[in-house]
Amino acid sequence: MYDRIEKLKTEIHEFELTSVIDIENFRIKFLGTKNCLKELFTELKNIPVDQRKEVGQLLNSLKLLAEEKYTKNQQLHLGQDEIINDLDLTVPPEKNVLGSHHPLSLIRDRIISIFERIGFNTSEGPEIEDDWHNFSALNFAQEHPARDMQDTFFIEKGAREMVLRTHTSSVQVRVMESNKPPIRTISAGRVYRNEAISSRAHCFFHQIEGLYIDKGVSFADLKQTLLCFAKELFGTNAQIRMRPSYFPFTEPSAEVDISCSLCNQKGCTVCKHSGWLEIMGCGMVDPNVLNACGIDTKTYSGYAFGMGVERIAQLKYRVGDLRLYSENDVRFLKQFQAGV
Ligand code: PHE
Repeated sequence: MYDRIEKLKTEIHEFELTSVIDIENFRIKFLGTKNCLKELFTELKNIPVDQRKEVGQLLNSLKLLAEEKYTKNQQLHLGQDEIINDLDLTVPPEKNVLGSHHPLSLIRDRIISIFERIGFNTSEGPEIEDDWHNFSALNFAQEHPARDMQDTFFIEKGAREMVLRTHTSSVQVRVMESNKPPIRTISAGRVYRNEAISSRAHCFFHQIEGLYIDKGVSFADLKQTLLCFAKELFGTNAQIRMRPSYFPFTEPSAEVDISCSLCNQKGCTVCKHSGWLEIMGCGMVDPNVLNACGIDTKTYSGYAFGMGVERIAQLKYRVGDLRLYSENDVRFLKQFQAGV
């Protein structure tokens, strides 16, 4: 027994480990499930009792020796052979695949940055709104047909009836309630209307609205701000025109058209041969709205405007079908890697 242990000890010492294959053979021989030490361990019970302890200790140190040699060399040669065999240094590197921003985020950020440069900050509000912020504070009388103009989704939240906001004007109410003028803010976000989904309408879309309240704000300020915005976004040749309109929360109200940059106003299918494209609603904030939000109408006046992000994106990117914006088709989305 002593001889065999001694022989194995030299064998372990002399076993040459120069490659991963050697290491694996070493492991199988001395540490694997059928290793040669196991045999000696089973024979231990035949050893006379007075020698058993000593032989047992010798066997254990033999096992330890093999384990130490194995782990030391395994670390030394770790993966070396595989790397050398599998590495083809002539393979070109894999290209980094760049992600892209969603086209609506690109347009939103671009519009916000234009208004930020002329002193507007940004504000946010909840998508599930109460009647007050979406309608009543904005001068929509109870039972007034104007509430139907917006095809509202009504929902139950606890015992309260709430709405999915139909426009981001609700955020402006929140800003006016909690801030003192001067207020210059842009609110961007998702809004909901109960419309059948088609290429031209969706049950949710995105708006950007602006609000400016200060002493002596006039319609001329509104016009100039929107002209400046149109030129920034659509180029210095852009013109705007205003047509009288109606919104419960503004008086007077107007619809804003921008000159069609696709055909230089010569007439095309996008502008339906009129040379003009409708892009937003606007007006002077109705005094009833200012009063509802606790702003003194003797001192302050203001303007507001609101536009659909999809509509602007449609003009910028000529994407005709609204559904593409929410279908997550990577082939569509990855075309926007270059930005606005
Ligand atoms: N909130 C209006 C809409 O959703 C847009 C608008 C905003 C009009 C501000 C005038 C002033 O249609």
